[in-house]
Amino acid sequence: MNADRFTQRLAADRARVDAFLEHVLEQHEPTAPRLEDAMRHALLVGGKRLRPLLVYLAGRALGASDDRLDAPAAAIELIHAYSLVHDDLPAMDDDDLRRGQPTVHRAFDEATAILAGDALQTLAFEVLARASHPRLPAMIVTLATAAGRNGMVGGQALDLAAVGGHPDVEALATMHAHKTGALIRAAVRLGGLSAVDEEDSRVAALDRYAEALGLAFQIHDDVLDVTGDTSTLGKASGADAARDKPTYPVLLGLDGARRRALELTDEALAALVPLGEAGSPLAQLARYMIERDH
Ligand code: IPE
Ligand code: IPE
Ligand code: MG
Ligand code: MG
Ligand code: MG
Repeated sequence: MNADRFTQRLAADRARVDAFLEHVLEQHEPTAPRLEDAMRHALLVGGKRLRPLLVYLAGRALGASDDRLDAPAAAIELIHAYSLVHDDLPAMDDDDLRRGQPTVHRAFDEATAILAGDALQTLAFEVLARASHPRLPAMIVTLATAAGRNGMVGGQALDLAAVGGHPDVEALATMHAHKTGALIRAAVRLGGLSAVDEEDSRVAALDRYAEALGLAFQIHDDVLDVTGDTSTLGKASGADAARDKPTYPVLLGLDGARRRALELTDEALAALVPLGEAGSPLAQLARYMIERDH
């Protein structure tokens, strides 16, 4: 697919998942309007929708129809949005800006941000569980495992424990693989499971792709924290250094971190070889994810 068509494809998929998310939020009369507003603020304003894009592209690569992919795409973005709301809280990264807007605890208040995160998380599982799908139990287990103590939340705990410390590259890779890699892997796997059984060897190939890509993605996030500016990023640049967070640029230097991200992207692309031409949109997305400026 040429670059222009690929960009149009991503825009169409973003619009697709946004419409689905909007529909999900509108399904029930809100019990608590302020909570509802906070959830909408966290979910619908800005965001690159990379995880839903991974669901769509991985699913299509293995032959899933688009309507099978909407619920898992929405569910992973709901978990991601919740993780950002909590990541920004004063007790965690204490950030004021997210996706070019005040963070949820800034626009509303801390208690509302905690509750909005909680409700986004449970809504993710509700959306997925309501989808009719032959491999639904495996999909729910995938999402729950990736989100929880051995996935994103575990990684966030490692991140907090590492503040001011000096982890080696291996420990940092473990932290990144959990806090960020787990949801990237889950996105790709949910796409795969929308099409085929876990035993299909292409699911293992997708998993190798996602593992390398997830780490490359967080290394690039660390790099952008140093090289990006706040208005382009839509979140404060320099926040990691200000909080004494161990990152790849701290450990390997900027060039070393960039090189590592490129090596990992090559690994991700190599993992797609068994998929043949069907894997090419995923290869384009991997390049886009580590060339992005925000
Ligand atoms: C930001 O993720 C948090 C990390 C895991 C690095 P994204 O860069 O995907 O954020 P949005 O969804 O586009 O705002
Ligand atoms: C976020 O990592 C990982 C999450 C689980 C949200 P960061 O703390 O580096 O993400 P940003 O830089 O705030 O987006
Ligand atoms: Mg953080
Ligand atoms: Mg943060
Ligand atoms: Mg960051």
